[in-house]
Amino acid sequence: MKLAKRIERVEASKTLQVKEKALQLQAQGIAVIDLTAGEPDFRTPANIARAGIRAIEEGFTHYTANTGIPELRRSIAEKLKKDNGLNYTPEQIVVSNGAKQSVLNALFAVVGAGDEVIIPAPYWVSYPEQVKIAEASPVIVDTSAAGFKLTPELLEAHLTERTRAIILNTPCNPTGVVYSPGELSELAAILAKRDIWIISDEIYEKIIFDGLSHRSIASLQNLSEKSIVINGFSKSYAMTGWRVGYAAAPLPVAKAMAKIQSHYTSNASSISQKAALEALNGPQEEVEFMRREFEKRRDYIREKLSDQPFLSFVNPQGAFYFFIKVSRVYGCRCESGLIQNSIDFATYLAEKYHLVTVPGAAFGADAYIRLSFANSLEQIQLGIERLLEGMRAMLRQKQES
Ligand SMILES: Cc1ncc(COP(=O)(O)O)c(C=O)c1O
Repeated sequence: MKLAKRIERVEASKTLQVKEKALQLQAQGIAVIDLTAGEPDFRTPANIARAGIRAIEEGFTHYTANTGIPELRRSIAEKLKKDNGLNYTPEQIVVSNGAKQSVLNALFAVVGAGDEVIIPAPYWVSYPEQVKIAEASPVIVDTSAAGFKLTPELLEAHLTERTRAIILNTPCNPTGVVYSPGELSELAAILAKRDIWIISDEIYEKIIFDGLSHRSIASLQNLSEKSIVINGFSKSYAMTGWRVGYAAAPLPVAKAMAKIQSHYTSNASSISQKAALEALNGPQEEVEFMRREFEKRRDYIREKLSDQPFLSFVNPQGAFYFFIKVSRVYGCRCESGLIQNSIDFATYLAEKYHLVTVPGAAFGADAYIRLSFANSLEQIQLGIERLLEGMRAMLRQKQES
């Protein structure tokens, strides 16, 4: 019996091999330094957790409106106005089970077979696969020579008659780059002239450093007419397990997304929606506390990694990842064979140094590995030492051979 064609196009996770290695080591009782986390290492703030508990105790445990409870959609519209200068009515907001679902809802709503979707690389792992699930074709644009940012030239060079959408992500996972308002304006000027949907993933909005503030491309040049703004609670409020995200879009798109969602998951958890409401309307001090902690860790790692001649990186100004170029060690030999790519290198680090990272191949950039700093400073410290030790050992071997 055959599986659907759609499934043949979707790739399994490229991180599996390294993860399996880490699990094997852990099963042997070996302490592994895991710098793969895609989620804050902080607990959900207590006031938010209590709002969830209260929802259960009060019996708020049934279906809600498919697109979310009215007070949450209203609060999200107010947030978008206050933080991002965007004008949406609550009817234009669709609350879903995480931003991941919101991106897929958006793709289902605006692209299909024969359409192309531009994705700057390095990209978040799910974008290309979600585009394929929506039966469209990802057009991957390598930005590694441009400081990991899509430039107007790169964008122009990849537009075709079939381009139907673009996915932008700032602050970016995995590189941590943040587009400046000027850079966004240049892209906006090109996009404003075309019939292209902009899916703007802003989930790391609040995790931003160096005194920068996040800007939504939808707030530029009337682009909200063409934009689907994606955001959520996972990263800013350390709420990954609660599964609440949202999209804000022109009304026909919001209605289309709602229609799709109504037939596959319906509403986000009623309990989580109450918690999300508290996240938006309650005190925000913990958001700032977590941001500051991430910035301190960023500073620490940056200092340790700078002036190391065998690796390079772009200073992350947001999110909680370092994307490190490690291809200098490719071509080296280790006990288990030749290191030829990021998967080999990450596997070597896991096996020999018990340090787990994510190979860049997962993000469409094989010269790199991603190191998350959503972990304690002690673990980060150990992890960096092991990374540097591992790279030095490989290069020594290369010189000797
Ligand atoms: C860029 C980006 N977008 C979306 C998501 C999904 O977030 P959520 O937990 O809200 O589904 C992630 C999670 O890692 C992410 O890194």
